[in-house]
Amino acid sequence: MKALVLAGGAGTRLRPFSHSTPKQLVPVAGKPVLFHVLETLARAGITETGVVVGGAAEQVRAAVGDGSRFGMDVSYLPQDAPRGLAHAVLIARAFLADDDFVMFLGDNIFADGIEEPLDRFRTGGAAAQLVVRKVADPSQCGVAEIDAEGRVTALQEKPERPRSDLAVTGVYFFTPRIHEAVRGIEPSRRGELEITDAVQWLVSRGADVRAHLCSGYWADTGTLGDLLECNKVLLEGISPDNRGTVDAASVLSGPVVVAAGARVTRSLITGPAVIGARTVVEDSDIGPFTSIGEGCRLQGAGVENSILLDQVSVQGVRRISGSIIGRAGDVRQTPDGSAVHRLLVGDDSRIDVPA
Ligand code: TTP
Repeated sequence: MKALVLAGGAGTRLRPFSHSTPKQLVPVAGKPVLFHVLETLARAGITETGVVVGGAAEQVRAAVGDGSRFGMDVSYLPQDAPRGLAHAVLIARAFLADDDFVMFLGDNIFADGIEEPLDRFRTGGAAAQLVVRKVADPSQCGVAEIDAEGRVTALQEKPERPRSDLAVTGVYFFTPRIHEAVRGIEPSRRGELEITDAVQWLVSRGADVRAHLCSGYWADTGTLGDLLECNKVLLEGISPDNRGTVDAASVLSGPVVVAAGARVTRSLITGPAVIGARTVVEDSDIGPFTSIGEGCRLQGAGVENSILLDQVSVQGVRRISGSIIGRAGDVRQTPDGSAVHRLLVGDDSRIDVPA
């Protein structure tokens, strides 16, 4: 059983971060989403993974390497443009050969792993198996209709009037029959080869396509709100681990991870929170639900429910909440003390200020 991880795509909904960082490398709970994905696959016993990469191929390669740190062999499969999830399967034909495989979207998180649906696929004999989840508003998702035995009878992509409340999540199990399907379909109205169309192609030809209902935590980290929510949920599962230097005047309360080389002075860190390697926190109030990257500098800062990427500096600014600050972002008090907001903001950014 191989894995096909999709780490290309445009990531338009995750701008401005996706201008400079592929969305799969944005960190949640202290590490890139893609690392969570590869760890989930490794825990399920997958040792051979193909990673589909697009314009940010070099950054993904530099971060993941040959896969040995995850206990797997990783190969890279370049996709010339985001031509759809089924197109990713099409270009992976040689890598996948005639093996069964799990296709995993590189921006999805399954906190409780994929062992259960994987076992079911291995023993069930289906041609394909989707992982579905009940959602309140299925109109923005692929939607599966199933019969009493859990067989998929039809699929709809982002339907105006959904015929079921079962959203198709970002994990799919396929036998080699999918290769014929991805060759048999045409691009959709948005110009992409849709995986829902390929699965529907199988269903229409009488193939046994199953749905596995996922009950654990699933997140699609496609938007900034999703990222913060996912950060919160994953941080809830961390254990305290202090490898840095925390002075006697500081308090770590609840589960707090302080990475090696980090220094905390005269500060309160309320867990769950992660302080990245070589980050300096002074006279600050951090957490809960906060992930601080590596090499950051926080002085007189107050930050909760937020994600700070590497090398961020926050000086003399409190009440930062529900925020994501990109790499080397610099947030500080106006130098002359005037009561104005002075903004130097990159393309596609968003700022919320009190009325
Ligand atoms: P999506 O979130 O559906 O697409 P996107 O990355 O283009 O994002 P947006 O809608 O915000 O512009 O993609 C799901 C996952 O699959 C994500 O990890 C990117 C990846 N992907 C590819 O690798 N190749 C593709 O052709 C597409 C469309 C997505």
